[in-house]
Amino acid sequence: YFSPSLVFEGIRCVLLFVIGVYILYILKLNYSPEECDMKKVLVRAPRLGMLVVQQAQKYARQVLQGECRPSFVKKGMDRLFKEKYSLGLSPFVKQNSEANEAAYQYDPPFGFRKFSRKLQNLLELLPEHDLPEHLKTKSCKRCIVIGSGGILHGLGLGPALNQFDIVIRLNNAPVQGYADHVGNKTTIRMTYPEGAPLSEHEYYSNGLFVAVLFKSVDFNWLQAMVKNESVPLWVRLFFWKQVAEKIPLQSKQFRILNPVIIKETALDILQYPEPRSKIWGWDKNVPTIGVTAVVLATHLCDEVSLVGFGYDLSQPNTPLHYFDTLCMAAMNGQTMHNVTRETLFLQKLVQEEVVKDLSGGIHCDFCKKESEQSKRKMPLGI
Ligand SMILES: *[C@@H]1O[C@H](CO)[C@@H](O)[C@H](O)[C@H]1NC(C)=O
Ligand SMILES: *[C@@H]1O[C@H](CO)[C@@H](O)[C@H](O)[C@H]1NC(C)=O
Ligand SMILES: *[C@@H]1O[C@H](CO)[C@@H](O)[C@H](O)[C@H]1NC(C)=O
Repeated sequence: YFSPSLVFEGIRCVLLFVIGVYILYILKLNYSPEECDMKKVLVRAPRLGMLVVQQAQKYARQVLQGECRPSFVKKGMDRLFKEKYSLGLSPFVKQNSEANEAAYQYDPPFGFRKFSRKLQNLLELLPEHDLPEHLKTKSCKRCIVIGSGGILHGLGLGPALNQFDIVIRLNNAPVQGYADHVGNKTTIRMTYPEGAPLSEHEYYSNGLFVAVLFKSVDFNWLQAMVKNESVPLWVRLFFWKQVAEKIPLQSKQFRILNPVIIKETALDILQYPEPRSKIWGWDKNVPTIGVTAVVLATHLCDEVSLVGFGYDLSQPNTPLHYFDTLCMAAMNGQTMHNVTRETLFLQKLVQEEVVKDLSGGIHCDFCKKESEQSKRKMPLGI
């Protein structure tokens, strides 16, 4: 039995399949314009001057050598933002606290409206909701928020960053292989499920995992992580990229970020419009994890420094992160965050000397010309 029409049909199917795969391939090529050609980047980007590296390291030492000033950053936030900043906000969600009421005002990520059941289930699994005792009792805590910016590369600030009391890292920003520049201490890893590092080596037995919950399945995922269970397949389907299967930490190391801190950051400090219900997409009113972590740090710490912050969108061909090959241009495609407004906010914090910028990508206090710098030397350490 051999029918020519069947053979034609077969060939037609194979051809259609090949063409389909080819079209998908082309589409995929066009959909990843964010990859930076690192060879071009390395040729184009001017080498970091030794002077800048030395100045950055010297500046970090100065910041660390000064005496830690209790409540310094809170006083500064209060001065700059008055009633827009809540001095008593608890950094992490607590069980049955009255503060939770404010958390039920908005939908995620600004609150947990309609999620009180899921939140309760989670909170029952979490024995602790504050800093570990040895940090909580410390009378003055100095914190560093480590952004993932390409600007961190080559500054050799790792040893200085390790000396902060609390080191906050964001999403999947790795330590392994980059310790010279980003340090190797992690007190807090703050992320949403899709951002959680896949490598178990990025979790430390004395660090905290602070979860930022955006959607319903985020609660299910966190519950699986805390209980050391596998993530159900139907839950996995809802994530936009592969999520961690296991987080090698004990339940007492997990925390949930108080969503009121995201609400405070977005609606009060950055003055974004109130969230509207939308079927798809965002209003560009969701703060980045980076800026949210800075506001979290003001609630946790007495003094706050930043490093690895600053997107220079006018330089589309510079590396976006210190650890991958994405280009700055990738930031222009996103629709969730208003980077311009966030940068203005961070600039205000640094210029008003509420926080310090150790890599100078937001506002550089140490890149001044020699004569100007000597003028500034006196007030710097105070
Ligand atoms: C960080 O690196 C130093 C020096 O390599 C090492 O002694 C220390 O144990 C490391 N700390 C962590 C938390 O990995
Ligand atoms: C999680 O479960 C695995 C076995 O599936 C076990 O080897 C591991 O020790 C557990 N981790 C914790 C933190 O309990
Ligand atoms: C982003 O923020 C800037 C500065 O506040 C503002 O001028 C701009 O309109 C905002 N963009 C969007 C898309 O909301």
